[in-house]
Amino acid sequence: MREGKVIMLMMMVLVGFGLSVEGSSDWQQKWWKWKSRTSIGAISSQVNPVAASSSVLFKLYGNVYPDGFYFVQINLGQPPKPYFLDPDTGSDLTWLQCDAPCIHCTEAAHPLYRPTNDLVVCKDPLCASLHTGDYKCDNPEQCDYEVEYADGGSSLGVLVKDVFTLNLTSGIRLSPRLAFGCGYDQLPGVSTPPLDGVLGLGKGKSSIVSQLQNQGLVHNVIGHCLSGKGGGFVFFGDDIYDASKVNWTPMSQDSIKHYSAGSAELIFGGKGVGLKNLDVIFDSGSSYSYLNSQAYQALLSLVIKELNGKPLKEAKDDLTLPFCWKGRKPFKRVHDVRKYFKPLALSFDNGWRPKTQFEIPLDAYLIISSKGNACLGILNGTEIGLQNFNIIGDLSMQDKIVIYDNEKSAIGWSSANCDRPPKSNTLVM
Ligand SMILES: *[C@@H]1O[C@H](CO)[C@@H](O)[C@H](O)[C@H]1NC(C)=O
Ligand SMILES: *[C@@H]1O[C@H](CO)[C@@H](O)[C@H](O)[C@H]1NC(C)=O
Repeated sequence: MREGKVIMLMMMVLVGFGLSVEGSSDWQQKWWKWKSRTSIGAISSQVNPVAASSSVLFKLYGNVYPDGFYFVQINLGQPPKPYFLDPDTGSDLTWLQCDAPCIHCTEAAHPLYRPTNDLVVCKDPLCASLHTGDYKCDNPEQCDYEVEYADGGSSLGVLVKDVFTLNLTSGIRLSPRLAFGCGYDQLPGVSTPPLDGVLGLGKGKSSIVSQLQNQGLVHNVIGHCLSGKGGGFVFFGDDIYDASKVNWTPMSQDSIKHYSAGSAELIFGGKGVGLKNLDVIFDSGSSYSYLNSQAYQALLSLVIKELNGKPLKEAKDDLTLPFCWKGRKPFKRVHDVRKYFKPLALSFDNGWRPKTQFEIPLDAYLIISSKGNACLGILNGTEIGLQNFNIIGDLSMQDKIVIYDNEKSAIGWSSANCDRPPKSNTLVM
């Protein structure tokens, strides 16, 4: 069954020589021989004037259905070349499929990135941030990494540095040298998109936004606005929205890796239905949303109960998603089924403050398949091995600006028009 499902949430990072995949040692050998002539060691930290009130804006391409993925174009290297990356708030590390040479690369959008000789050394704090606990490097001159995603996809490689060409909304062009993964051994997941790599937007030190902050270039704030019509934009920095119009909730500190807004209650048709304490993660790398088996079962029962006596029948022949319903005539838009489904919401418990709601209107949890059926875009997380948490994916974040403020440790959202990227200093809300 093709679900067009991309789940980029990072499950594991293994870094350090010997920890990685068996059978790759020949290639690693090749890598360091080739690399041994480089003169690295000094971590160049150019000090630039603080561009405190500027942002970097990327146009976003793609959609949840039918494509099943989004991407941004980044320009990398000297001279800059374009690459298409999947923006993923579920993982930290940015990496590109890399001609190191490549042992296994998946289908890409551009010729493979060719690395420079600027390797990140083992003792660099960025390398440490990719490890859990103590780590040793057999080769002090390089930093191996391995990332594995919830859909089974993975990338193995080494950290390198190169120049990113970024335009600030103020008009200034930046050319910072940033570290990222040169991935020379990728395994495809359930449905790996034909892209050049991943733009890791998680809260870890290795993310390129955290590196830009360290260089004094932008605030460590990440946001995205996914349009229900496809496309939208992604930004780094905090000057393109009005913070007073955003619904903020504290970032949970329990989850060191993921963007979690703490525990939520599911609201169905405006009412609580006894589904509380849902630990929810915001993950732009997932096309759809996921609930743990118990919550999923409960939601499914409520939806099916609502459809009772209505002219909708389960479309068992439509394999677009696990549950699809057909009407008397094919549906064209989610609007056509508005009488049959109820809006959802997640209500986040902020302690003493009023609860903050994350609205999930019909458009944010149903899709209309190519067969004209309405399909449920909330899936069973237990089926893909998610045990303790639930995921808000792209579908449910559509037509909202979602902001991850790593400086204030808060996650915010607000409805927005995501069709047109804002011009410098114009607000989208
Ligand atoms: C940056 O700005 C220049 C000049 O306006 C433009 O040609 C270029 O395409 C922009 N780059 C990106 C990544 O938006
Ligand atoms: C969700 O997936 C788990 C694991 O595959 C399965 O045991 C459970 O029955 C599923 N729940 C529903 C409601 O389909």
